[in-house]
Amino acid sequence: MAITTSYKARSDAVPLRSFKAKGRPSAIAGVGVHAPQKVLTNFDLEKLMDTSDKWITERTGIHRRHIAESGTTTFSLGTQAARAALDAAGITAQDLDMILVGTSSPDGPFPSVACRIQNELDAPGSVAWDTLAACTSFVYALSIADSFIATERADNILVIGAEVLSRLIDYTNRGTAVIFGDGAGAAVVRPAPRGAGFLSWCLGSDGRGYAQVTCGNIEKGAYAAKDPEPFIEMVGPDVFKFAVDIFIRQATEVCREAGIGLDEIDLWVPHQANFRIIDAAARRIGLPMERVAVNIDEYGNTSSASIPLALEEAVRKGRVKSGDHVLLAGFGSGLTWGATLMKWV
Ligand code: ACO
Repeated sequence: MAITTSYKARSDAVPLRSFKAKGRPSAIAGVGVHAPQKVLTNFDLEKLMDTSDKWITERTGIHRRHIAESGTTTFSLGTQAARAALDAAGITAQDLDMILVGTSSPDGPFPSVACRIQNELDAPGSVAWDTLAACTSFVYALSIADSFIATERADNILVIGAEVLSRLIDYTNRGTAVIFGDGAGAAVVRPAPRGAGFLSWCLGSDGRGYAQVTCGNIEKGAYAAKDPEPFIEMVGPDVFKFAVDIFIRQATEVCREAGIGLDEIDLWVPHQANFRIIDAAARRIGLPMERVAVNIDEYGNTSSASIPLALEEAVRKGRVKSGDHVLLAGFGSGLTWGATLMKWV
């Protein structure tokens, strides 16, 4: 059920909140991912609805998306990404002080996906909870991790973005079905040497834009209304303009706070929502595509999993080295946005 409001997501009307990282520094110490094996190509979608590989490729940059088998849980995808991130960081689940999950597709209202993953990892005692900020959830969760480490209330934090969005898709709606996919990514956040790790943040929301991207019968309460069709709906073109603007403004803010120029960004890892959004923003920021991590062609939009999925691929391919300035930036339903500039350890 689409909701109509007169709101237009003009992000330039919204003041941005940005700040330097303070206190004990923290950094990403390891990343891991997991994607379901099953793949849905544009050609598969051509057989399901009135669309074409040409339209999807040209308008979004997406060729395929990974889709979980029916009955797959978000926590099971997140657990596999979490194990890979723990291995990459060289710590065990028992070392964890906190487990944070960003998700747009929790398995239910409660218990949290984080508690289910904690149980799978056999890490009782750590603090575990979910951050619900749609596609911005992973960056919000990273900022929470940085704050707890900065204030010395935690040393080892696991941040996960995990999604089974395919169960929220109406496969008769070509406006959304071609966009979204399933997957999970995770990062271990630990204390870092001074001057390294997270340098600055830009985080914000604009609830006036709540109707721009929705899932289910939010006006009646999807759970209360026992919504039989909890499907994603969005005002695509308006979100597109908002996304380009907010990417540019966030990049400018976090670089200013960190005291570096936009031309000193070595790698930008954007939320993978649409290749044309990323391309338009990169051009206006002045970043060549060699300095942008893009894998939307393979995964589509995996909401809170998209940034860690793209970051892990960049790390695995040797595109990030110690001392590099790495920008992570997301946006999503809410409306929400979040970015951080890191000096890679
Ligand atoms: N196949 C073929 N034609 C299509 C398809 C499709 N899959 N989807 C739409 N069309 C048609 C439309 O019906 C329309 O036809 P018309 O001109 O005859 O009316 C035409 O294509 C253009 O439609 P638009 O919606 O204007 O297409 P646009 O170029 O804007 O692309 C898209 C749509 C891909 C959704 C784009 O607007 C977009 O990426 N927006 C941003 C979405 C986003 O980032 N959401 C993130 C939030 S996710 C979260 O928070 C969970």
